[in-house]
Amino acid sequence: MDHFQIAVAVGSLRRDSFNQQLAHALEKLAPSNFSFKHLPIGELPLYNQDDDGNQSEPVLRMKNDIAASQGLLFITPEYNRSIPGVLKNAIDHASRPYGHSAWKGKPAGVIGISVGAIGTALAQQHLRNILAYLDVPTLGQPEAFVQAKEGLFDKDGQIGEASRKFLQGWVDSYVDWVKQHQIDPIPSAS
Ligand code: FNR
Repeated sequence: MDHFQIAVAVGSLRRDSFNQQLAHALEKLAPSNFSFKHLPIGELPLYNQDDDGNQSEPVLRMKNDIAASQGLLFITPEYNRSIPGVLKNAIDHASRPYGHSAWKGKPAGVIGISVGAIGTALAQQHLRNILAYLDVPTLGQPEAFVQAKEGLFDKDGQIGEASRKFLQGWVDSYVDWVKQHQIDPIPSAS
């Protein structure tokens, strides 16, 4: 069975982030041949085009992690009706230098959770625009706009009963999407 490593970008650095919780809960719904590596986007400097010829170690590490992955998972809050600056900063870093974007061609899923009623819909739409420009094939359906509500997560941090079927369906579609776009899955040892 092929193994798939997924590079995960969570758009919140907050300690008790709902989006971090959602990331971990979704990862538990994926099959065992999927593993997830979180990109440490909080360690990156602010993007400066002057540094394109001499990217810093954290940027190069992130680009290597993306290059080694068979798929991308973006889990983002909505900040002022768009994506948080920390996430855009990471996307810009890994898109450069010109012609050497790490993102190109990697199949992606986009999902997010917020306290607002539209559940990150506008942030996700902005993110889809950016990913389209970066040549990232992004799962279109199902969309998942998640609102932070009592009972969404159970006491073990898993998705609670009321949302489990829907989010399991989202993960299953994401897994299929990643598999459909494979160029170089990692062969398993056995
Ligand atoms: C927000 N929040 C928010 N929510 C929303 O639904 N739409 C929005 O446009 C905004 N804008 C916004 C801006 C800023 C600067 C902050 C700090 C917050 C609220 C947001 O959904 C809430 O703080 C979530 O808890 C953020 O996600 P994490 O950190 O829990 O993952």
